[in-house]
Amino acid sequence: MKKVRKPASKTDQKMMRKKDETIVFFRGIGSAMTLAAAAEKQGRRIEMTDLSPIENAAMIVKDGRIIACGPEKELAKKKALLKKAREVDLKGRTILPAFSECHTHLIFAGNRAGEFERRNQGESYQSIARSGGGILATVEPTRATKEKDLAKVGQRRADRFLRQGVTTIEAKSGYGLDVETEFKMLKAAGTVRGPRIVRTFLGAHAIPKDFASAEAYINHLIAEALPRLKGEGHACRVDIFVEDGYFNSAVSKKYLQAAKEMGFDLVVHADQLTRSGGAALAVELGARSADHLIQVNDHDVKALAKSDVTCVLLPSSDLYMNCAYPPARKMIEAGARVALATDFNPGSCPSQDLALVGVLARIQMKMSLAQVISAYTVGAAYALGFGRELGALTEGRKADFSVLDGDHQELFLEIGRMPISEVYREGERLV
Ligand code: NIG
Ligand code: FE
Repeated sequence: MKKVRKPASKTDQKMMRKKDETIVFFRGIGSAMTLAAAAEKQGRRIEMTDLSPIENAAMIVKDGRIIACGPEKELAKKKALLKKAREVDLKGRTILPAFSECHTHLIFAGNRAGEFERRNQGESYQSIARSGGGILATVEPTRATKEKDLAKVGQRRADRFLRQGVTTIEAKSGYGLDVETEFKMLKAAGTVRGPRIVRTFLGAHAIPKDFASAEAYINHLIAEALPRLKGEGHACRVDIFVEDGYFNSAVSKKYLQAAKEMGFDLVVHADQLTRSGGAALAVELGARSADHLIQVNDHDVKALAKSDVTCVLLPSSDLYMNCAYPPARKMIEAGARVALATDFNPGSCPSQDLALVGVLARIQMKMSLAQVISAYTVGAAYALGFGRELGALTEGRKADFSVLDGDHQELFLEIGRMPISEVYREGERLV
């Protein structure tokens, strides 16, 4: 198994700076898939040429940021700068921007393996939830698990993503459904080292047993949870499961508006099981992303395409749910920005496999390889609010990238394997 390296501690980083080792010259790059054009187009209407490859390339990184990426012959002329640089020879291999995993339920305890069997034998996700399974079945073990133990499983799962070339991971709460446990989940996520973690408060994931209605619970979240979250700073994003039987459009709107007024970024679990108005809300309120989007119609697609909302598609969750896939081609052709993610969670998608996501996107949604790569880099970076910081190997962005074991056409090909041999975050090697 690929080894995960410990990231440099704060003191090590200071030492490195003192020794003037913060300039790194990555040379001998056979091909740099920079995604410069994909980033320029903000992840919309992606074509093959938008991968913007540079052959026989090099990259200069200073203090974790790219200061140049281009043909090695050109960069080698920057003699004064390179005199101070540490050299890393990538020996003719291909590099590409690191992936972002922009929709995960990274932190939870227990498992719901039995539900998978029940669904395959004919029960629906909703009927299992009504009989005490579903999200609420993960709440109990998560409440009973200590923060340090949640942190441990979170770290293990984050490392599994990292080895697949992921340096930025979203981690939602949502299996506590009381303030203490929700914050415990977010704090556990905050201890994860290696990849950067973007935390999202998903207190509005389901209605806990001790509340009589969705509205009563939402009122409680607005009055109690959000102000405390703001004060304690465990997350700056708020998500909600807009769905029949969970939170309807009216209640969700009230919640999202309140969160927006408090300065949170918004994310929406939208139109997954039924067309419940999540995409429309995301557009109306300017959410970062609308996720799932299986049940959207042409009108929703048009509105999403005109907006700055990123459409986060989760095809491995759709596989496990044995449902339809979202209309990715229509979205792309209409000009929407599309991202892909696993939706890793104990119920609807117990898989962290990026290759599976990409293979399904290609086979079932007819996304081209370039569109899949862009969705996992540029698109996902936008979904997390890092649209100008990550996702491409261009000047000024963070030097988060992977070294491939093979060429880029071997990406999203073999379920269970990503051909990634090294992973760097801000110029520092983590795998
Ligand atoms: O994204 N849709 C709501 N939330 C998750 C499922 C969570 C669970 O079943 O535990 C999802 O699919
Ligand atoms: Fe989800």
